[in-house]
Amino acid sequence: MAGRIPSHFIDELLTRVDIVDVIDGRVALKKAGREYTACCPFHDEKTPSFTVSREKQFYHCFGCGAHGSAIGFLMEYEHMGFVEAVEELAGTAGLEVPREAGAAPPADRGQQDLYELLGRAADYYRQQLRQHPQARQAQDYLKGRGLSGEIAAEFELGFAPPGWDNITAALGAKPERLLAAGLLIRRDSGGHYDRFRERIMFPIRDRRGRVVGFGGRVLGTADGAKYLNSPETPVFHKGSELYGLYQARKAVRKLERLVVVEGYMDVVSLAQFGVRNVVATLGTATTTEHLQRLFRVVPQVVFCFDGDRAGREAAWRALENALPVLSEGRQVNFMFLPDGEDPDSLVRQEGQAGFERRLENASPFSSYFFETLSRAVDLGSIDGRARLVEQARPLLKKLPPGVFRHMMATQLAEIARLDAAALADLTGAPAPAAAPRRSAPAAGTSPVRRAIRLLLQRPQLVENLTELEALQGLELPGVPLLQAMIELLRARPHLSCGAILEHWRGQEEGRHLARLAQSPVDVPDEGLAVEFADVISHLAALRDEQNLDRLLAKSRLGALSDEEKHQLKQALAAKRGSGS
Ligand code: UTP
Ligand code: MN
Repeated sequence: MAGRIPSHFIDELLTRVDIVDVIDGRVALKKAGREYTACCPFHDEKTPSFTVSREKQFYHCFGCGAHGSAIGFLMEYEHMGFVEAVEELAGTAGLEVPREAGAAPPADRGQQDLYELLGRAADYYRQQLRQHPQARQAQDYLKGRGLSGEIAAEFELGFAPPGWDNITAALGAKPERLLAAGLLIRRDSGGHYDRFRERIMFPIRDRRGRVVGFGGRVLGTADGAKYLNSPETPVFHKGSELYGLYQARKAVRKLERLVVVEGYMDVVSLAQFGVRNVVATLGTATTTEHLQRLFRVVPQVVFCFDGDRAGREAAWRALENALPVLSEGRQVNFMFLPDGEDPDSLVRQEGQAGFERRLENASPFSSYFFETLSRAVDLGSIDGRARLVEQARPLLKKLPPGVFRHMMATQLAEIARLDAAALADLTGAPAPAAAPRRSAPAAGTSPVRRAIRLLLQRPQLVENLTELEALQGLELPGVPLLQAMIELLRARPHLSCGAILEHWRGQEEGRHLARLAQSPVDVPDEGLAVEFADVISHLAALRDEQNLDRLLAKSRLGALSDEEKHQLKQALAAKRGSGS
């Protein structure tokens, strides 16, 4: 993986994915004629002005001006970078993202090398679990925990043997790289030693299946830390990685929801018992980034926490971090385990069905939210209800504007016996800040703009263009862009409007095109071809006029070449012939 993503791949990708599916998985769309609509996810509104066109592969909000292709939507809605959005879409379409040849940026090359090392380390640890003279102890430990050989193999569990310098010898890599990969620890006195020793190894794979780090568990009980995890490295970020996500996506074709548990062992045990849609954070709290990542895969996340105080605190932290990403269509539930149990112990007692029954009964976000806040106050008193409002208000403000926030605010008003108007700042009344970001495009009456708008509406019109030189020499604003579009579409006539725009991503031309795409020409489908032919011949006539004026001006200066004199004669004849 190096270099740029070739533009033909972006074209291909955008013909393979459907923007309606991409958006519908995140924002509930309603069919309205040929388009789909919804309340805009990018600004606060009660009546839908967000539209998605399958034909154009383009979304647009008449209220706030947000717009773009499927890639643009992911970038804006999921806060992804361009490359990340392309990779995400490619993943759903089953395409591999190619890279143009050429040197990778140095940072990238460094990362490649870390992935490679970590992958080899995982192989090595796995091998040691079978082959090392002391592997018996590790195997017995896993058996004692009730893990099957199949599940250990699927999760690629391994064994880091005792000793201080196994990994360097095994991988034959430079210590600096192994340090960077988090496999070695530097000694204060100089030198280094293996981070993982005498531990059961849980390799952590990222979304794309690359090993990015490890969790290592001591065999049995320990004096020190039970688990040792890889440190943060250029390829491993605990705040966003989730253990088991890769395996869950592989095991279940269409994931509907994901369960977040606390431990590696919980993920593996649940999987063994058939509960496959489970992930764990890596010994950290659940972050907003984790949730963003989860919601890219499923619309529902169920948190599964211990019933003790620590579990409740962790759940509340997860709730707070979930607020900013809880837009319409997304759901968070909370499930608490009986005292002294964890998912691993529970699924062994109750089996898949028992555990899944508990999942079904998990508390909805709003119940957990209001129950928890209400428990801390006396709802029977005015003071108590005021305190509830005080505590809920800043939290609800973190929710994205929209129906869900509105409903939560309404419920708060009910519980606090408050007039909904008193919570107006929360009930989704359009705030002045959410006023249109961009003004509507100007009427767009110039023929060049009209031609561009027609092509954006129906790119295949380019095939009707017989007079190839129609625009040659025409000096009008927008002509170079129109010409570039025509050239692009001649080479790739199947591009959608959204895909065309991607060719000018981040450029002034792109913004111009997007504005034009938002105000389609008001011509019925049957009339588009005629309209396009008209506008092109109008442009050709303008070009001829400009040409004539130029030649006349030059002839007044007596500066015409023979060739130009000939042209002038022809132009004048043509003009007389056309009777104008
Ligand atoms: P648990 O103690 O619940 O882990 O800690 P577990 O996976 O169920 O392990 P078993 O059942 O005792 O074998 C939850 C998670 O917290 C992190 C690990 O990610 C662990 O999976 N943790 C725990 C650490 O990072 N370090 C520790 O010392 C303990
Ligand atoms: Mn456990």
